[in-house]
Amino acid sequence: MNNAVYFPALWLGIAVVVIGIMAILAAISYFRQTIGKDPLTRSQFHRQIVLLQQMRWVLSLLAIAMTGVGLGAWYLDSTQKEKSEAEMRAGLLPQYDRGKIWEAPDPLLAETDEHASLIAYGRDLVARTQDYFGENGLVRPGSINNMNCQNCHLDAGSKPYGNNYFAVNSTYPQMRARSGSLETIPKRINDCFERSLNGQALDTTGREMRAIVAYMQWLGSGIPKGEKPKGSGLAEVPFLNRPADPVLGKKIYAEKCASCHGADGQGLPMAADSPRDYPPLWGDKSYNQAAGLFRMSRFAAYVKANMPFGASYQNPQLSDEEAWDVAAYVNSQPRPAHPFLKSDWPKIEKKPYDHPFGPYADPFSEEQHKFGPYDPIIAFYKKD
Ligand code: HEC
Ligand code: HEC
Repeated sequence: MNNAVYFPALWLGIAVVVIGIMAILAAISYFRQTIGKDPLTRSQFHRQIVLLQQMRWVLSLLAIAMTGVGLGAWYLDSTQKEKSEAEMRAGLLPQYDRGKIWEAPDPLLAETDEHASLIAYGRDLVARTQDYFGENGLVRPGSINNMNCQNCHLDAGSKPYGNNYFAVNSTYPQMRARSGSLETIPKRINDCFERSLNGQALDTTGREMRAIVAYMQWLGSGIPKGEKPKGSGLAEVPFLNRPADPVLGKKIYAEKCASCHGADGQGLPMAADSPRDYPPLWGDKSYNQAAGLFRMSRFAAYVKANMPFGASYQNPQLSDEEAWDVAAYVNSQPRPAHPFLKSDWPKIEKKPYDHPFGPYADPFSEEQHKFGPYDPIIAFYKKD
C-alpha cells in the first residue's frame, strides 16, 4: 500500500481505538455511579459491566499492537528509503572506466553530499574568484590579478581537456620537481594563486581552501587512487619541427583572438551589463612568468582544445601550427616577472624542455627552450 495512505490510516485507526477505550471507561464509571450501592441493580447489570471491562482490555491490546506495527513499519520504511537513496546516488555517480573520457559528476548531485555547502562554495570560488579576492572581493580584496580560476580551468575545472581538475584527488599528494618537494592539494592550489593569479597564497586551513579542496575531491569522486582518468588536464599538441614563430602568431592573434581579448591583450568587458570580462592575456593583470601557461606546451595545449571560446577537443578551431605560433606571440608580450626563479627547479636537470629560464644541464639556449624545436632537447636527456 502507498505509504502516504498507509501511515495516516494506521494512526487514525489507533486514535479511533483510543477514543473507544476512553468511551468504555466513561461508560463503566457512569454505570458504577448510577447503579450505586443497591445490590439488586448491581447484580442486574453485572454482566454488562464485565463485558465492558473485557472490551476495554481487548481494545487496549489492540491499541498496543497497532502502535507496535506502526512503529515497526515506520522503522523498516526509513531504513529502506536510506538504502535506496544511497543506491540511487551510486547509480548517478559516473562509473570509472579507463577507456572513457571522465565526466564530472552532476553538480545537482553534490547538493545531497554531506559536504554540500563546502563543495558549492568551492565551485563558486573557482568560477568567480574575483568576487572573493578581486578588487572589491568579499574575503580578501585586491589580493590577486584580474583573473578567475575558471578562466584557465574551464567550466569550473570540469571540461574534458579544458585544464580540468579530474586527476587532482587521485594523484595528490605527489612529488613535484618544480618545488623539489611533496605537494599536497592545498600547496598545488596556492601555486596557482601565486603564479597564475599573481597573488597571495591562501591560509591552508581556512574555509576557502577547505572548500576548493572539497570541490576538487567531489569532481574526482570514484576515481581510484593513482589513476589519471582519460580527458583530465590538457591534451598535448604534437611538436613542430621548427621554432614556434611569434610573427606568424601575431597575425593569428589579430584574426582569431583580439575580438575578445582586445588588440592590446588586456581583455574586454563581455557586455555593457555583464559583470564578467574577457580575461587579459598579458600585462600587469595577467599571469606571471612562473605560471603554467607561460610554458609554451601548456599554452598551446590549452588554446588548441579550448580557444577561440567554444572550441573543444572534439571540435578544435586552430591547427597545431597556429596553436604553437599564437602561444609564441602571447608569451613574448610583457607580463609580471617570475617571483621564484631562485627556488624553482632545485635540480636543473629536471627542468621541462619548455622551461625558458636557464641555467640548464644541457647545451641548448633559452631561446630554443622557449620556442623549440623541442625534439633535440628531449633526445638529449633520453640519451643519458
Ligand atoms: C592563467 C591560467 C590559470 C589560472 C588563472 C589558474 N590556473 Fe591552475 N593551472 C594552470 C595551468 C596551466 C596548470 C598546469 C596544467 C598542466 O601542467 O598540465 C594548472 C594546474 C592547476 C592544478 C593542478 C592540476 C593537476 O591535475 O595537477 C590545480 C589544483 C590548480 N591549477 C588550481 C587552480 C586554482 C584553485 C586556481 C584559482 C585560485 C587556478 N588554478 C587558477 C593555469 C591556471
Ligand atoms: C569569443 C571570445 C574569445 C575568443 C575569440 C578567444 N577567447 Fe580566449 N577566452 C575567452 C574567454 C571567455 C575566456 C575565459 C573562459 C572562462 O572564464 O570561462 C578565455 C580564456 C583564455 C585564456 C586563459 C585565460 C587567460 O586570460 O590567460 C587564454 C590563454 C586564451 N583565452 C587564449 C586565447 C587565444 C590564443 C585566442 C585566439 C586563438 C582566444 N583566446 C580567442 C574568450 C575568447
